[in-house]
Amino acid sequence: MEQLWGSGFSKPLNKSTNDFNSSLRFDKRLYKFDIQGSIAHAVMLSCQGILTEDEKNLICNGLEEILHEIDEGKISFDCDFEDIHTFVEKFLVEKIGETGKKLHTARSRNDQVALDVRLYTRSELQTLSEQIFSLIKVLLSLVKQHKETIMPGYTHLQRAQPITYAHYLSAYVEMFKRDYERIQDVYKRVNILPLGAGALATGPHNIDRYKTAELLNFADICLNSLDAVSDRDFIVETISCLSLIMMHLSRFSEEIIMWASKEFQFIKIDDGYSTGSSLMPQKKNPDIAELIRGKTGRVYGSLMTILTIMKSLPLAYNKDLQEDKECLFDAFDTVNACLSIFPEMLETITVNKDKMLKACYEGFLNATDVADYLVKKGIPFRNAHEISGKCVKYCTENDKTLDNMTLDEYKQYSELFEQDIYQAIDIKNSVASRKVIGGPAVEAVEKVLIINEKWISDNSEKHCE
Ligand code: ARG
Repeated sequence: MEQLWGSGFSKPLNKSTNDFNSSLRFDKRLYKFDIQGSIAHAVMLSCQGILTEDEKNLICNGLEEILHEIDEGKISFDCDFEDIHTFVEKFLVEKIGETGKKLHTARSRNDQVALDVRLYTRSELQTLSEQIFSLIKVLLSLVKQHKETIMPGYTHLQRAQPITYAHYLSAYVEMFKRDYERIQDVYKRVNILPLGAGALATGPHNIDRYKTAELLNFADICLNSLDAVSDRDFIVETISCLSLIMMHLSRFSEEIIMWASKEFQFIKIDDGYSTGSSLMPQKKNPDIAELIRGKTGRVYGSLMTILTIMKSLPLAYNKDLQEDKECLFDAFDTVNACLSIFPEMLETITVNKDKMLKACYEGFLNATDVADYLVKKGIPFRNAHEISGKCVKYCTENDKTLDNMTLDEYKQYSELFEQDIYQAIDIKNSVASRKVIGGPAVEAVEKVLIINEKWISDNSEKHCE
């Protein structure tokens, strides 16, 4: 294979060197962005009088044709070009002749690849943003349906206090809102044009980088050419965002797996989203949730990959940077696949309200309510906590619950207990009493729902601007 840079070399590249060096097998997926960037570059060059109008038209039409032919599968990537940039340029020269060789004026593959990866990331972040947004909408509709579905809340995976399924789901609404906002924030730093930096130090041609930025809809340009070609912070940040999304999906999945188990039986995953065992006929396995949990490791791996590639890399471009792409692509592909299936699975889950409620009656989830009852009667919380603890101990030793202890039994621990203790510790009343904003009471969840619905309408028109 003849190289773009071969003239100063005394012999052709070894096949093994080319195979090792080539990135075409993975950067081929950047072809649309590569061509889009080249068209903008050619237009800018003609605006600046560096290319004539005719040359620009020839180049742009040639590039459009190549784009079309790749889209249609008429040009295959089954060849040994060094990378997608070389590939497109060679086809252009083949198609339109010598003029094609002018396209690379005032450009290097170093700024070109930085541009392509930013264009790709920008587009993927838009898709991701929409996916997270729809997931939040699915969650909010479930929140509305389950404001009164009481379930145990846990700390240390021990039953702690009663909450509702709506309150639980609302926690994930907040996590995914933060993910969404992080994407918008990263997007600002991705949306900056590196092109025009050349190999590392710009060039002598009178180019207009702001024009190229405008043509490609970038908000600004990179202000230092060394940084422009060697900065991959935006990839680190992007994969960090992706990792956090996976972390949230993974925690959620873990709970889905547990709650679908015979031990909990809080939910049932729809058959369409469960799998069976080839050996045990009774099994229904939560494979989707498990795979999402597993794939989280893969995305974290990508984050570690890019962080390690960047560590100690001297300015400016080094070939190490070619390794930035596979981890980025894989992270996006993985998160995209997870976010495509997760909302469907979530929406079709059947909630076993009885089991959830029943679980609130075992494990003294209303012990804090006993203490809070005494606090309302004027006892300092610390003392009230101690009295409640004694009641729980009494129940445990006498095979009782706080609900079926008699008033006389209560009075052994404090004279302040009255008949209204039973009201105060009723599980439903316990939830209803936690009306503080952020809490599980229906009215508290509704207040937050209003805020979140406003958040939805405020953001629905502007994913990654
Ligand atoms: N395939 C290369 C990459 O992904 C493109 C840039 C090559 N630049 C160079 N000077 N060899 O980074």
